[in-house]
Amino acid sequence: MTDGCGRTIRYLRLSVTDLCNYRCRYCMPETGVEKRTHRDILSAEECVEIGRAAVNCGVKKIRLTGGEPLVRRGILEICGGLSAIGGLEELCMTTNGSLLPDLAAPLKEAGVSRLNVSVDTLCPERFSHITRRGRLVDVLAGLEAAERAGFTNLKCNVVLIGGFNDSEIRDFVALTEHRPWEIRFIELMPMGQCVGWERSCFLPAEEVLRQVPALRPCEPSGTAARYRVPGWAGTVGLIEPLSHRFCNRCDRIRVTADGKLKPCLHSEAELSLRGLHGAELEAAIRRGIAQKPEQHHLSDGGSDTPRNMNEIGG
Ligand code: 5AD
Ligand code: SF4
Repeated sequence: MTDGCGRTIRYLRLSVTDLCNYRCRYCMPETGVEKRTHRDILSAEECVEIGRAAVNCGVKKIRLTGGEPLVRRGILEICGGLSAIGGLEELCMTTNGSLLPDLAAPLKEAGVSRLNVSVDTLCPERFSHITRRGRLVDVLAGLEAAERAGFTNLKCNVVLIGGFNDSEIRDFVALTEHRPWEIRFIELMPMGQCVGWERSCFLPAEEVLRQVPALRPCEPSGTAARYRVPGWAGTVGLIEPLSHRFCNRCDRIRVTADGKLKPCLHSEAELSLRGLHGAELEAAIRRGIAQKPEQHHLSDGGSDTPRNMNEIGG
């Protein structure tokens, strides 16, 4: 279905938990988040029911997010239920990769078609620093397990942080020489934990093009402008949320782990889907789509959402 601005909505990002086994400094407070009771979080059945209603409203692609979706109990059941929905073309997941060594193959079996794995640095010490408790080796093993399970078109998400990983831009791009991966550099968004960070942390994604002049534009994918080094196997994506460049192409809606439909990541507008079923649930989703704002206000003073990223799922 199309929203009030004529955009066709075909993409649902569904957060299945706000918990995470990492505490990335820009995303989560050190102490983590208060564990909510089961009743506050969508059940596996509700996740699938919302997915089905969204597909009835025209959604073709669902991405599972978190927090970290792989710490969610029943995640394989949720994946299996969603992938069985007729009319759904893609079931994707954004994960920190740490649990993929065990879960990559079962996820493939449960019908997940694509994985995005977050890796902000290739240096083990820096990795443990930024995630406060993660180990780079686990994620590298996770990426390997994913490839072995048949996820060949992997995307790696790198949040660009000035003074932290801008010295590794060339190393990340070099991964695309022999691997058919998409390395996606994401501009750090001033929300939640990193609102007060120094200006120098917030780098424009163009820094990547400045450092690697061999990159040439190729066809865009979703919200990412894409580039490749001619002859190399993979591509490089630049995601620039601070510019309004992709609001007019935005085809997505979000549902939080506690069952609130968010027409836009940066808007405080939320619509509760809890307790709704069948035609009522579909009608609520249609109302949310119709209310989708034309653009966000990130560049005039920050996000309007009071939520942390781990509650919305990136
Ligand atoms: N700015 C940009 N990306 C963020 N993520 C979390 N917080 C931010 C932020 N402030 C990213 C994570 C991951 C995805 C879930 O969202 O790195 O790739
Ligand atoms: Fe967890 Fe991802 Fe947030 Fe890091 S950025 S704490 S991996 S949800």
